[in-house]
This record gives sequence, C-alpha cells and structure tokens, in this order.
Amino acid sequence: MSIDRKILLLPGDGIGPEVILEAERVLECLNSKYSLGISIEKALLGGVAYEESGDPLPQETLEKADWSDAILLGAVGGPRWDDLPSEKKPEKGLLRIRAEYDFFANLRPAILSKYLVSASTIKKELVSDLDLLIVRELTGGIYFGEPRGFIEKNKAINTMVYDEEEIIRIGKVGFEAALKRNKKLCSVDKSNVLEVSMLWREVITELAKDYEEVQLSHMLVDNAAMQLVREPKQFDVIVTGNLFGDILSDISAMLTGSIGMLPSASLNESGKGLYEPVHGSAPDIAGKDLANPIAAILSVAMMMRYTFDLEDIAQEIESAVDSVLSEGHRTSDLESEGKLLSTKEMGNEILTKLEL
Ligand code: IPM
Ligand code: MG
Repeated sequence: MSIDRKILLLPGDGIGPEVILEAERVLECLNSKYSLGISIEKALLGGVAYEESGDPLPQETLEKADWSDAILLGAVGGPRWDDLPSEKKPEKGLLRIRAEYDFFANLRPAILSKYLVSASTIKKELVSDLDLLIVRELTGGIYFGEPRGFIEKNKAINTMVYDEEEIIRIGKVGFEAALKRNKKLCSVDKSNVLEVSMLWREVITELAKDYEEVQLSHMLVDNAAMQLVREPKQFDVIVTGNLFGDILSDISAMLTGSIGMLPSASLNESGKGLYEPVHGSAPDIAGKDLANPIAAILSVAMMMRYTFDLEDIAQEIESAVDSVLSEGHRTSDLESEGKLLSTKEMGNEILTKLEL
C-alpha cells in the first residue's frame, strides 16, 4: 500500500516564498530518498491572497487545507497592507486558519546551536547550551475574545477570556512536554492583576496533581520577560496564554542570536499541524535572496516529528542544519567572519548534506 502524506505549502508574503522554496526542496529530496509518499499542493494566504481574491484566506486555500495532513507556512503581512480594515489584513488570514483547525497548541523551541553562541546578544555563559520550549495557547485569549473592535472612532476594546477547558488542554501539552524533557514547567500569567490569570493559575495548579514528576512553578509575565534575559537557562518548558506567549517567544528567539533560526508547530488534538518559522515576512529584505531559510527547514523537521511521527527524518534534517553551521556557513542575519550565503546557497548546503 502506498503511503500518502499530504502537505500544503502556503508561502505567503515577503520572504515567505523564498524560504518555503528551500523547505520544499528539502521535502522533495527526502521524499525521493525514502519514498515517503509525500504529495505537495500550494495555495495563497495573507497579502498575496488578498491581492488575488480580496480575502486573506480564500475558499480555495481552505479546501486545500482540508485535504492536507500538514501545512507549511512562510510568513504573512507587510506595510502595503497596513491600512486595510482588520478583517482584510494578511494577519487575519493566519489567525483564521489557526482557529479553523483548532491549532491551539503552539510549540516554539528556542535552541542555541553550539556553533552560534557568539551570535547571541547575551553573554556566552548565560546562553550556551540553551534549550527551552515555549508552549503558547494559540486559539483563545485576547486574540479571539469577544467583545472586540472599535466602539467609537477613538475608543476600542479587546477581551482576554479563557475557560477551564482551554487552560486544561494547553496545560496538558505543557506538562507532557516537560515530562519528555527536564521535568520543569513554568506557567506564566498576570494573576496579580487579571482575573483570567487567577483562573489560569488555579487550573494549572490543580492539573499539576496528575503530573507529580513535573516540578511546577508560576511566574508573572513581566518578571518572566526579565528572567528570560537575566538567566534563561533556569527555564525548561514555559506554558502561557496567547498574547504573553507571542511576546515571550520573540524574546526567547532572540536569545539564540537570530529569529531566522527558529521553527514552530501549531497542533490540534488530531495531530494535524501548521508549521511555520517564528520570523515574520521581513519586507525590507524580501526578494533579495538574503533571508535565512533555516527556520523554514527546521519547521519541516517539526512536521516530520509531530504530524508524521518520523523522528529519524526530523533528526536527519536537524543534523544537516547543524553540520552546515559547524562548517561556518552563515546567512546575513548571523554574524560571520567569512562570506555570507544567500537563501538559495544555504538551501544548497543543507541539501548537499541530506543527499549523502
Ligand atoms: C506570531 C505572529 C502572529 C501572532 C501575527 C503575525 C498575527 O506574531 O506568530 O508570533 O501574533 O500570533
Ligand atoms: Mg509573534
């Protein structure tokens, strides 16, 4: 029986298409090397989709997303679309696809390659061997809470809301991840001010009774932001809500020197996933063959691990990236003493390793 692994590529805006092209080459290479039965489709999301159809998440894209087992997204957004009403903004397409498939569990690892220790703006000894995971709730909280919107021209409202069930399901993802790692979970909230955080803390504390092996701590989000730059290695897994996770994951990404390195996975209960680099669309360097494709390529590794349960292949991709970095190859977002590689050249180097 031939296996069928269906992948939808959504290159999106800015540098998205350039980095997704390199990730696609990686997928094709592994597909022929191991006969993975991968079939690939492409569709529009974000600003490009709005230009084409007037909708940042067109029906055709949703149909292909229904067909797929996993989605690989480049990036969305750019200054061109800043003045659109919020329903038409490229970012809205991304938020809708997250909600449509209930991709509530967003995993954002921040791992510092030993070859990039000097790329971090933080002192070497504080970040060397850094390996932390942010588990961000992705389909609730203030991003989706009602009421929302402009009440008047100069007055607007958003609502941060979580119910017990939403907190339990993301909490479980945090505890389970901690069990597989160093068994430390830090839950981040703002329970000294927000009722929604008081509930969050109560529910997570209760859930901890099912995970006796995991050492649970709680931290207020302002302190967590500070601790992430003060002593990042105190953390193993962080679990938090949508907005706090958005902010903290940018901080943790930068600890590793470049946001161009970090992948992410957004999963639902059935294992279907949306995989994307943590970086944005970087309009300033779009179309110049300068972007770092590593985050997109490592997102393919996460896809192999979480949706397709192909741990060996995930590790093969991660080792290929590591070995290219060990040889000193760098794109322009990373500091380097040698010649800087273009997007395509970095893709070539990684492919050369995978083709071995
Ligand atoms: C992210 C991004 C998105 C978010 C934007 C583009 C909507 O910042 O994935 O972190 O805020 O979730
Ligand atoms: Mg963000």
